[in-house]
Amino acid sequence: MMHTTPLTNRFGVDVHDIDLSVIDAAGYAALRALFEDHSALLFRKQTLDDAAHIRLARFFGPIEDRLADERAEDEDFTVPQVSNVRADGTTTGDMDLHTLNLKSNMLWHADSTFLPVPALTNILMARVVTQTGGHTELASSRAGWADMPETLKAQVRDTGFWHRYAHSRARISPDLAKLPMFHKWPDQLWRAVWRNPVNGAEALYIASHAYAVAGMDPEKGAALIDELTAFVTQPDYVYSHKWQVGDVLIWDQRAVLHRGTAWNHKEPRVLSSICVSATPDDGVDAMRLIV
Ligand code: OGA
Ligand code: MN
Repeated sequence: MMHTTPLTNRFGVDVHDIDLSVIDAAGYAALRALFEDHSALLFRKQTLDDAAHIRLARFFGPIEDRLADERAEDEDFTVPQVSNVRADGTTTGDMDLHTLNLKSNMLWHADSTFLPVPALTNILMARVVTQTGGHTELASSRAGWADMPETLKAQVRDTGFWHRYAHSRARISPDLAKLPMFHKWPDQLWRAVWRNPVNGAEALYIASHAYAVAGMDPEKGAALIDELTAFVTQPDYVYSHKWQVGDVLIWDQRAVLHRGTAWNHKEPRVLSSICVSATPDDGVDAMRLIV
């Protein structure tokens, strides 16, 4: 029987005695209930190949495919990798645009807030891990929002943030931000608070991609975004995951921010990553702010 132990005293559970490669609808329903309640799920010693990874992701909803427009009709979806390993087995150089893009992942964010449909979850699976560093950190923006002083909450409760992919890249490198892949989608406006439709819990919905607060002076908005992000990523709300091969981490992007941490880029690091898009049942329609 599946049982759980807490990852931190504010959010997240380590789920034991479950093989994700053979999960069925009843097993998914149990996981989904944990996902709604705890926001982050860790599973160790898993053996998901790409097909099983895709199968698991489909239970959560439609698989996100950012390359759909670049793929030929007869080409299948392939599982994206967060990797610093080139096709020839060498690792990418320190200042390569590819490495700089990985560095952008070290800014606190939720995935795909710059897409017309943002991500509900990311299912990350460790393939090659580092000796030191290269952790993935999660911060509960549900716990952080619950503790936030009302004066701070009131400044964004009824408004939203403008999100742009190139914004998070520009914070690392102006050259990186120029790549066409960061300019495929128009800016997106999402409400600042995502209310979970199942349990009513509210969370701050913010990301490194957020560059402005709707209806606020741009500089004031940018400073407020920094202040809010800093609040919900205080150590009390953070779980830092040191990867082992076979670990699977699944989190609720509506209630959790994440970031990678630095490692020696000469060390290979490969995570398989499937994002699932949020659907109306997940509350995405209510997140659209009309201005
Ligand atoms: C991601 C991501 C961080 C990491 O996969 O979306 O941000 O630790 N990863 O690699
Ligand atoms: Mn990410």
